[in-house]
Amino acid sequence: MKTYFVTGGAGFIGANFVHYMLNKYEDIKIINVDKLTYAGNLENLKGVENNPNYTFVQADICDKEAIEKIFNNNEIDYVVNFAAESHVDRSIREPEVFVKTNVLGTVNLLNIAKQYWETENGFKEGKKYLQVSTDEVYGSLGETGYFTETTPLDSHSPYSSSKAGADLMVKAYGDTFKMPINITRCSNNYGPYQFPEKLIPLIINNCLAKRDLPIYGDGMNIRDWLYVEDHCKAIDMVINKGRLGEVYNVGGHNERTNVYIVKTIIDYVSGNIDSSVTEELIKYVEDRKGHDRRYGIDPTKIREELGWEPETSFEVGIKKTIKWYLDNKQWMDNITSGQYQNYYEKMYGNN
Ligand code: NAD
Ligand code: DAU
Repeated sequence: MKTYFVTGGAGFIGANFVHYMLNKYEDIKIINVDKLTYAGNLENLKGVENNPNYTFVQADICDKEAIEKIFNNNEIDYVVNFAAESHVDRSIREPEVFVKTNVLGTVNLLNIAKQYWETENGFKEGKKYLQVSTDEVYGSLGETGYFTETTPLDSHSPYSSSKAGADLMVKAYGDTFKMPINITRCSNNYGPYQFPEKLIPLIINNCLAKRDLPIYGDGMNIRDWLYVEDHCKAIDMVINKGRLGEVYNVGGHNERTNVYIVKTIIDYVSGNIDSSVTEELIKYVEDRKGHDRRYGIDPTKIREELGWEPETSFEVGIKKTIKWYLDNKQWMDNITSGQYQNYYEKMYGNN
């Protein structure tokens, strides 16, 4: 029975991963370690909290004692590090916490895993540290070309630079100590449980609340969208089959402009829920500072080496996603009735 030490499992992708893994395997244990920042939400884990193979520990990945205690009490096989400050706009306002959690937190986990896994002749068999990273470490593309695993790191925002710093530390532990590591770099995820500061849940929520739909700059920036379950499947494959020391890009060739995303959501809501939601709600606002123009992943390596293929097209995934937020209105209301309103007003005013 393998034991997974998952960090950030109360956030968007981490929670989806915990659900995915416990649905798929009956013979694994998951210890979910999360600080429960504004982005962590135990409601995301309601469906698994009584599963005997699941444990939750509230802790900061920077806290040496708390993390050592978990390693002391459990034989950890895999560390899967999702925990991070994840929002670019917040990193522009408050970079320090991004360095703390994303870089120093990662190094703390690496040190402790190394301490418990290293033997006189290398590392214990079957252990692995997986760092969940992002395509944003590669910077921004022009109109053509894709990010491959050998594209040089050229991050721009404090968020992506902190993720790039963390990636380089993970690589350093692989190169210097021969620690068993992998890094995955994924494109934009969407799906259930995403905090409504990110484009898709924010636009869905604003459509339902008949608020302005803020589009940064000219709205022609491009992101490469991946349904979150396809990302979870990729991480599972990399843990179980990924070659040690390797980086794997994860993306499904679903490039869309931001304007396209917003209009697709308006069309769905207008056609299925409330015909008074129209493009008139769109508001072009000041551009994000240093806004990357285009991301696009080349997933050839993970497809050819591990057989990974995304299963959900954007057209199917976006409908499933909107429907999930409609069916889980209370989940959204619980978030947006708290501190969220202060954040929202600072970012977008009172519209
Ligand atoms: P999220 O913001 O929804 O969740 C982050 C989680 O980490 C939260 O539960 C939060 O409480 C927890 N956390 C934050 N600081 C912590 C700390 N110091 N100690 C312990 N827990 C802490 O983020 P997400 O969108 O689910 O992203 C998860 C990971 O995937 C991140 O590493 C992110 O960089 C990466 N990623 C995200 C995307 C995306 O589109 N969302 C794409 C590629 C990669
Ligand atoms: O590419 C992977 C990355 O995707 C992850 O590493 C990050 O953690 C994740 O947050 C995401 O970053 P983005 O900055 O691409 O996602 P966001 O949802 O914030 O924005 C998507 C695009 O939409 C981006 O071009 C900015 C734009 N945008 C966003 C918001 C919140 C708007 O036009 N208006 C908005 O209100």
